[in-house]
Amino acid sequence: NKHKVVITGQVLPSALAAIKQQCEIYQWQETTPPQLADLIPWLQQAEGLFVTGNIKVNDTLLAAAPGLKVIVQPAVGYDNIDIKACTSRQIPFGNTPGVLNETTADLAFGLLMTAARRIHESWAWVRDGKWRPGVHFPLGIDLYNKTLGIVGMGAIGAAVAKRAQVSGMKVIYYNRRPRTDQEQLKVEYRTFSELLAEADFIIVLTPLTPESRGLFGAEEFAQMKPTAYLINAARGPVVDSQALYTALVNNEIAYAALDVTDPEPLPADHPLLTLPNILVVPHIGSATIETRNKMAMLAANNLLLGLAGKSLVTCVNTEVNYR
Ligand code: GLV
Ligand code: GLV
Repeated sequence: NKHKVVITGQVLPSALAAIKQQCEIYQWQETTPPQLADLIPWLQQAEGLFVTGNIKVNDTLLAAAPGLKVIVQPAVGYDNIDIKACTSRQIPFGNTPGVLNETTADLAFGLLMTAARRIHESWAWVRDGKWRPGVHFPLGIDLYNKTLGIVGMGAIGAAVAKRAQVSGMKVIYYNRRPRTDQEQLKVEYRTFSELLAEADFIIVLTPLTPESRGLFGAEEFAQMKPTAYLINAARGPVVDSQALYTALVNNEIAYAALDVTDPEPLPADHPLLTLPNILVVPHIGSATIETRNKMAMLAANNLLLGLAGKSLVTCVNTEVNYR
């Protein structure tokens, strides 16, 4: 008698095989996200739910799935999951922190370097049959002796700081609470306003919460240096897209590099995509073979543990994890 599990999208083969051994699966196969109504017939039977970031888990969904014992998602962020609603129904939710820190730090710092040195524009230039960037090719800027401001100094932020320091950058950060290990990390705490005014590059890594939604808007861009670069590797809505567009058009800041956007994906005719001083990649922070496999296997493992009534390895609402 296999456990019934709903999977809302694509899952890497290793993890899918592990789940299939013990479960009967109902998997959404379209590339477009499912509507709740699409999943309801499956959810009514489900004991496990494997979310792939393409649906909101809220009270309405949970009410349609009375038999759920566990919910998992292969991601560190869980802004699409109503944790309180899960907890009130005694359902543990497992995310996948830890395994993606270095990988995501590589991408965030890679975006910074790519933007600063115009690597992507240079490649387009060469592919157009040109060579030797001359006076008409925009020069990049140095990282050396510049200040990086990290907003949201968790494990990923600490991994970014190491990379920046090797490149000769000073690292300042803003967090809700200063880190107790800041001396060891060789990073200095600033208030948000101080960081905005002082940083040459800002990397955003804060989770999306009611407090961080719209954290970067017109007022914040006005406080930043006109030469500043903004890199968002967190969640799109932490940055107000309209205000960012205005700031980039008016050169209130110099450049933006985004791994995440609002909306996501950006429609092909979105104004941000028309700008010369922006670089956008499609939410690839954790997208390496090694890390995506680790994330998928950790999520699958959490799912199977939850179905067996055991504690998940990584659980957000720990108060319902230890039963
Ligand atoms: C990706 O964005 C994640 O939250 O892991
Ligand atoms: C960064 O904000 C993290 O979640 O580690």
